[in-house]
Amino acid sequence: MKKKLLITGASGFIGSYLVESALKKNYLTVAAVRPTSNKQWLTDPSIHFLEFDFKNDQTLDHAIREFVERFGNIDYVIHNAGVTRANKNEAYDQVNCDNTIRLIHALQRNNQVPEKFVLISSLAAYGPAKNEAPVKAVDIKAPLTAYGRSKHKAEEFLYTLTNFPFVIINPTAVYGPKDKDVFFLINSIHKGFEVYIGNSGQLLSFVHASDLVEAIFIAMESDSVRKNFLVSDQQVYTSKAFNQAIKTILQKKTLALVLPVPVVRTVAVFAELVGKISGKVPILNRERLKEFEAPNWAVDCTDINLLGYAPQYDLQSGLNDAIKWYKEQGWLS
Ligand SMILES: NC(=O)c1ccc[n+]([C@@H]2O[C@H](COP(=O)([O-])OP(=O)(O)OC[C@H]3O[C@@H](n4cnc5c(N)ncnc54)[C@H](OP(=O)(O)O)[C@@H]3O)[C@@H](O)[C@H]2O)c1
Repeated sequence: MKKKLLITGASGFIGSYLVESALKKNYLTVAAVRPTSNKQWLTDPSIHFLEFDFKNDQTLDHAIREFVERFGNIDYVIHNAGVTRANKNEAYDQVNCDNTIRLIHALQRNNQVPEKFVLISSLAAYGPAKNEAPVKAVDIKAPLTAYGRSKHKAEEFLYTLTNFPFVIINPTAVYGPKDKDVFFLINSIHKGFEVYIGNSGQLLSFVHASDLVEAIFIAMESDSVRKNFLVSDQQVYTSKAFNQAIKTILQKKTLALVLPVPVVRTVAVFAELVGKISGKVPILNRERLKEFEAPNWAVDCTDINLLGYAPQYDLQSGLNDAIKWYKEQGWLS
């Protein structure tokens, strides 16, 4: 009998990797989507779709009952739906925290507590490292941004529960084919601009989406419960090394622009204003800027390593993979 896995946020960047990997691992894979979700990355005929509306208890009860009627009891949930950028700070709490709590209550109410519930949180829930040492899973969480605080609140809620087996995954910046955020930086180098905000020595960490997804399944299938797992490719890079890796792959000469933080803050305020008027969420806002200003985003992946996690990509080979895909898809011409 195949184990039945519900994946929320299946239509997104990481969600599409989760679905692909779940099918390869022979799960009965149920992709929770909204009527408006773009399913361009979800083309495998073995995917089961379920409309999942987080709006209120009734809509969630309806979705869970439909799951049970169609497939039987839920074995695993990977709750990946979330917003990483929003025009209003309240949106982070509503989607990343309130929806998580509502989903968990609905699972409990419908006697569908899974073998394991996996929350896809973020390194942002911890905030940056407090000194030169990388962030560790046991560190006190001190999120910098509204996004990080919303993920942290969802995590805090999970830790109040009893008889609800969960693990929390805290990925660092995720990149790879289909990603649009790191692509933005790759594309600016492609256009000849190497941008630094304040400091070119910022310490960063990254993980390729396919490695992240492997880590997620390792944690889900392990005996671990009530635990956070930080996930990166186990390396630390400066922002300069990150840009250099892209330049090497693209074989581009660039103009390095070191932008002072006050200048970028003004641009961010303007971008937010445009975002509010147009309804589009800007790639840069003042919340994002806080992340650019923090000196150290390195992470210590010891806990997931102990479960056998061994990433396949470092930044150079991972960016190679992503850039090859962007070229094939015509995103980079
Ligand atoms: N990308 C990163 O670098 C990174 C790093 C750390 C953690 N994460 C976390 O990983 C998860 C996935 O991120 P991603 O980068 O793949 O983002 P993404 O491409 O924007 O995908 C987000 C997914 O969440 C769904 N979603 C958003 N708001 C929703 C709502 N109100 N109700 C139901 N579904 C909703 C979206 O559905 P629609 O398609 O219908 O909009 C989409 O499927 C998020 O929880 C994020 O916080 C991402």
